Amino acid sequence: MGFADRIETAISRAITKGQTAPSPGKLASALHYTVTPGGARIRPTILLSVAAACGDDTPKLADSAAAALELMHCASLVHDDLPCFDDADTRRGKPAVHRAFGEPLAVLTGDSLIIMAFSILTNAAALSPARAIDLLKVLAERSGMPNGICAGQGWESEDIVDLSAYHRAKTGALFIAATQMGAISAGQDGEQWEELGSRIGEAFQVADDLRDALYDEETLGKPVGQDDLHGRPNAVTEHGVHGAIERMRDILSGAISSIPKCPGEAMLAKMVNAQAEVLTPMKWRASNHSKIAGE
Ligand code: IPE
Ligand code: IPE
Ligand code: MG
Ligand code: MG
Repeated sequence: MGFADRIETAISRAITKGQTAPSPGKLASALHYTVTPGGARIRPTILLSVAAACGDDTPKLADSAAAALELMHCASLVHDDLPCFDDADTRRGKPAVHRAFGEPLAVLTGDSLIIMAFSILTNAAALSPARAIDLLKVLAERSGMPNGICAGQGWESEDIVDLSAYHRAKTGALFIAATQMGAISAGQDGEQWEELGSRIGEAFQVADDLRDALYDEETLGKPVGQDDLHGRPNAVTEHGVHGAIERMRDILSGAISSIPKCPGEAMLAKMVNAQAEVLTPMKWRASNHSKIAGE
C-alpha cells in the first residue's frame, strides 16, 4: 500500500470505531464529515516518509501514529473555524463543521478527535510499549501548552505577540511531531529529527501566508485574506510576495541539509523537494523548482 492508502485506511478505521453503537448519530456523522475528504494530509505523509527513511520495521505503529497526528490536526481546524476563533464558514471546500452541525457538535467533534488521537496510540501500544509512550509524549507536547497548537492559538489572545513563538507553536509544532513520530515509529530517537520538522513547518507557514494573500476562496476551499482581516503579521506583508517565496526556498534548502543520516536520506530530500513544489504558489512553480532542488 502507498502512503495515501495507509493514511486513509488508518483514519477510517479509527473513525468507524468511534461511530460504533450506542454513539449519538449526529456527532458520529460529524466525525466522518470532518476527516473526509481530507486536505493535503501533509503531516502524516511526512511522518510515513521519515518512518520509511528509518527502515519502517513496524508499519502498523507508523500507520497509527500517522492517523493520530492527522486527527489532531483535523480537530485543531474544527476548533479554529468556530465563531470564537476565526469564525470561518468554509473548510476544505465545504461548510465548516459548526456551520454544518452547529457549534455544540463542532466543539464535541474537536474534543472527540483529540481524544481519539491519543486512544489510537494507546491501542497500538501492544506493538511496542516503549515506542508508544514516546509517541504519546511527542503528540501531547506538540498539541498542548507551552509548545503545542494550544499555545499557538493562545498567542492570538495576547496584546503583544512573539511572532516566531506564535508560528512555531501554531504551525511548526505538528510538523515537528510529524518528523519525530515517524522516526520513533521506526525505533529511532526522535530528538535529532526536530530540526527538519521545524524547518518544514516554517516553510509551510510562509507558504500558507502566500496562499492566504494570493488565492481565492474557491481555489483554497477556505476563507482567504484572513491575515489582513485579523491584522496578523505575516510573511507577505513582511517580505512581499517575491521575498516570501525566496524565504521559503531558503528555509527548504536548509531543511534538506538538516536531514539526519539514515538509509533513506536521498528519498527524504526528494520528498522535501516534492512538498516544496506543492507549497509554491502555482504561478511560480516551474521557475522555482530548479532552485529549490539545487539543480
Ligand atoms: C491548515 O493546514 C492550517 C495551518 C496550519 C496553516 P493544511 O493546509 O495542512 O490543511 P489541510 O489539512 O490540507 O486542509
Ligand atoms: C489554523 O491556523 C491552524 C491551527 C493551528 C488550528 P489558521 O487559522 O492560520 O489557518 P487557516 O487559514 O484557518 O487554515
Ligand atoms: Mg486561526
Ligand atoms: Mg483559521
